[in-house]
Amino acid sequence: MTIDLRLLQHEGVIDGLEGIVAAATRLSRVDGEAGQLTLAGYAVDDLAPRAAFEEVAHLLLYGRLPDPAEHSAFAQQLAAHRALPAPVVELLRQAAGLDTPPMDALRMGAAIGSLGRAQDPLNDAIAAIASFPALVGVYWRLRCGEPPVPIRYDLPHAAHYLHQLSGVEPSPERARALETYLNTVCDHGLNASTFAARVIVSTHSDIISAITGAVGALKGPLHGGAPGPALDMVFEIGSAERAESVIRARLDRGERLMGFGHRVYHVRDPRADVLAQAAERFYSTGGDRSLYDLARSVESTALRLLRERKPGRRLDTNVEFYTALLLHGLGLPAELFTPTFAVGRVLGWAAHCLEQLREGRLIRPQSTYIGPVDLHYHPAPRS
Ligand code: ACO
Repeated sequence: MTIDLRLLQHEGVIDGLEGIVAAATRLSRVDGEAGQLTLAGYAVDDLAPRAAFEEVAHLLLYGRLPDPAEHSAFAQQLAAHRALPAPVVELLRQAAGLDTPPMDALRMGAAIGSLGRAQDPLNDAIAAIASFPALVGVYWRLRCGEPPVPIRYDLPHAAHYLHQLSGVEPSPERARALETYLNTVCDHGLNASTFAARVIVSTHSDIISAITGAVGALKGPLHGGAPGPALDMVFEIGSAERAESVIRARLDRGERLMGFGHRVYHVRDPRADVLAQAAERFYSTGGDRSLYDLARSVESTALRLLRERKPGRRLDTNVEFYTALLLHGLGLPAELFTPTFAVGRVLGWAAHCLEQLREGRLIRPQSTYIGPVDLHYHPAPRS
C-alpha cells in the first residue's frame, strides 16, 4: 500500500517549507499578495524592458547600477569570459553524439566550465554567467549537426546568446526581446533552484558546484520545465473556440495546467505581464499576432476554469506561460526554453551564492522521523 505523505500531518513539519523564511537577501523582493517583484530596489516592469543585461548583472553582483564607464568595463569583463575551454566543447560534442537533453548537457558543461580558472568566488560567478550562452549555443548547434560559431566579443550578452544559437547577428528588436526576458527571470527570491544553490555554497563548497546543482533543480516541470508543455497546450488548442473543451478535458484527467499557479504569488505573476507586453510588441512588429491573440484567449479560459474547479485556490498566470510565447516568437525550439531560463537565472544563482558566502550560515534544517522503530537485524540464513 502506498501512503500519500502529503496527507499526513506531522507536528512541526511545514510541507514544502511553504511560508518559511530561510534567508535574508538584498537581491529581490517577491510580494505574493500584491503581485510585485523588485530587483535590488527596482520594479521588474521598470527595469527589465529597458536595462541592459550587463547593467542588471552589475546591480545584482555589486549592489548598484553601473555608471557608463563601469557599464562598459563590466561588459568587457563579462565578454572576456565567454569562450569555453576546449575540453568543455569536447564534452558537449560527446553529449550531442548521445542525443543528451540540453539541460543535462548544460549541467555537465556548467560543472566543468570553470576548468583551469582560479577558485575565486567573484571570478567564478562572472565566468559562470558569461559562459552559459556559449554552453547552450555550442551544444545546440552540435546537436543539430552544425559547427559552433566563433564567439563575437563585440555583441552585448543577449545578442551574443542569439548569435551563438543561430550564427546570425540578431536584429535590435530580437535582442531587446531576449534581453527583457533574461532581465525578467534573472532572480526571484528563494525559489527552488536558488535555494539549492545557497544550500550547496553554505557548506563553503564552490560556486560552480552550487550552480551545477541549481541547473538540476531548475530542470523539473514544477519549476523551470513548464514553458514547453504550456506552449504545447496552446498549439493543441489551436483555435479559441476549442480552448474550453481542451482545458476542461485536461482538468477532468486531473492534469495541472502548465504556466498557471505559483507557490508565492496568489495573484498574477508580475513577470507574466512584463513578458506578455514584450511578446505583444514582438509579435505585432513581426506581423503575425495570431498566436499571441490565441494565447491571450487560452489564458482567460484557463483562468476561468481554474477558478471554477479550484475555488479558493487563487491560481493565476505565472511567468512560464508568456515565456513560452516570447521564446517561440524568437524562433527558439521548446527544448531550449528551460536552458534559456538558466541563461538568465544563472545571474541570480551567482549573486545569491556570493551573498550567502558573505553573510550566511550553514543551512542545515532538521527532519522528523516517521519510519518504523525497534526493528532488529537478523542475518539471513546462509544458503
Ligand atoms: N493546474 C491545476 N491545478 C493546480 C495548478 C495548475 N497549474 N497548480 C496548482 N493546482 C492545484 C493542485 O492540484 C492542488 O489542488 P488540490 O488541493 O485540490 O489537490 C492545489 O492547486 C495546490 O497545489 P500545490 O501543488 O500544493 O501548490 P504548490 O504551491 O506546491 O504549487 C506549482 C506551485 C508547483 C507552481 C503549481 O502551481 C504547479 O504545478 N503549476 C504548474 C507548473 C508550472 O507552471 N510551473 C512553473 C512555476 S513558475 C517557476 O517555477 C518559474
